[in-house]
Amino acid sequence: MNFQEPQQQSSSQPQHPQQQGYASYQHHDVIPAQQQQSANQQQQQQQQRPIEIPRIPTYQELQAQAKIREQQQHDSTTISFLPKKSSITKGKYALKDFQIMRTLGTGSFGRVHLVRSIHNGRYYAIKVLKKAQVVKMKQVEHTNDERKMLKLIDHPFIIRMWGTFQDAKNLFLVMDYIEGGELFSLLRKSKRFPNPVAKFYSAEVLLALDYLHSHNIIYRDLKPENILIDRYGHIKITDFGFAKEVTFYTWTLCGTPDYIAPEVITAKPYNKSVDWWSLGILIFEMLTGYTPFYDKQPIKTYEKILQSKVHYPPFLEPAAVDLLINLITPDLTRRLGNLQNGARDIKNHSWYTEVVWDKLYAKDIATPYEPPVAAGVGDSSLFDYYPEGELDYGATGEDPYSKYFEDF
Ligand SMILES: Nc1ncnc2c1ncn2[C@@H]1O[C@H](COP(=O)(O)OP(=O)(O)OP(=O)(O)O)[C@@H](O)[C@H]1O
Ligand SMILES: [Mg+2]
Repeated sequence: MNFQEPQQQSSSQPQHPQQQGYASYQHHDVIPAQQQQSANQQQQQQQQRPIEIPRIPTYQELQAQAKIREQQQHDSTTISFLPKKSSITKGKYALKDFQIMRTLGTGSFGRVHLVRSIHNGRYYAIKVLKKAQVVKMKQVEHTNDERKMLKLIDHPFIIRMWGTFQDAKNLFLVMDYIEGGELFSLLRKSKRFPNPVAKFYSAEVLLALDYLHSHNIIYRDLKPENILIDRYGHIKITDFGFAKEVTFYTWTLCGTPDYIAPEVITAKPYNKSVDWWSLGILIFEMLTGYTPFYDKQPIKTYEKILQSKVHYPPFLEPAAVDLLINLITPDLTRRLGNLQNGARDIKNHSWYTEVVWDKLYAKDIATPYEPPVAAGVGDSSLFDYYPEGELDYGATGEDPYSKYFEDF
């Protein structure tokens, strides 16, 4: 399906997963696992908070960084790989164009709402960021980058943004509404995925990451909460809050503890390699139901990541273990995806033998699970519920931060 197509309206009633049950893969272990819930909630809390901790690099690191920066500045012919043209312009949308509905998710700087267009009656998702919070948490650059990236990205497995606008207090990003919920929720309900399911989702993620990397974008926040499932069962990566266009290296410590690569923790300059590490963590979590370096205390998680000792449970297929060993490795000269052949090394790995990559890109492969949602009617039954606070959307008056967000 071309994701620019209008959403089809359906007359069927919204259904809850428990009522309908899961589609074709239910006979494996795609089943609810209530007993997992409290541990999972704990883990969820841990994983949902991306972090940004300022660090002091060592003298040697500073020297290395300075050298690379110098090289970057010198190479002024290096320009953006992103397409220059986009249909997304400022001022195309305004708050009055939408009816704001329930909250679909919350983040550190605001929330994401289900909304309905006053004009065409279709449903969209709007991410709202509080300017004061963005400034306070030093996320101005990341937020402007998020808009810039999303405006230009065009890929079947990445969220489409239609436009942005702002009021005196908030920033708004209008996106397609992806009805099937987070991969995170499906994984927690299922406990873990059978091989073919994990393979399918990770293969679609791989194509999305490969596309981003080919445009010199590192994603930096891969985790099941940021992967949505569309009504047909294909994935859409959302949340470009940490994505960055990088020609050489970058240094910022960001991401989510369980998914952060060791080179990010040790303040080394890093590049696309970090996303391939996170892909390894994602595959591990899908196959086992937990992340390999999980600890209640994030600092312990970091220690475990630096040691990089992974215990592979015996039920994992040898091919999967081989792939994971070569993704979850601190050795950048060994990490698949980071070698001369790039993502091709991962695509050609024996665990993915049966994947026909062109067909997958064309969505010409049956999905393992079709979310039980009524399409096109704003069914949000697969999203968790969040308390709905007082909204200050449409605020007018003084805006002390206007200079920071001129593109919105
Ligand atoms: N286009 C969308 N359609 C449906 N749900 C969405 C969409 N975009 C985001 N969401 C929901 O909102 C949640 C928060 O969105 P997002 O991750 O972009 O925000 P965030 O503020 O960066 O969150 P965090 O700080 O926790 O990473 C997502 O995990 C998802 O559940
Ligand atoms: Mg997120």
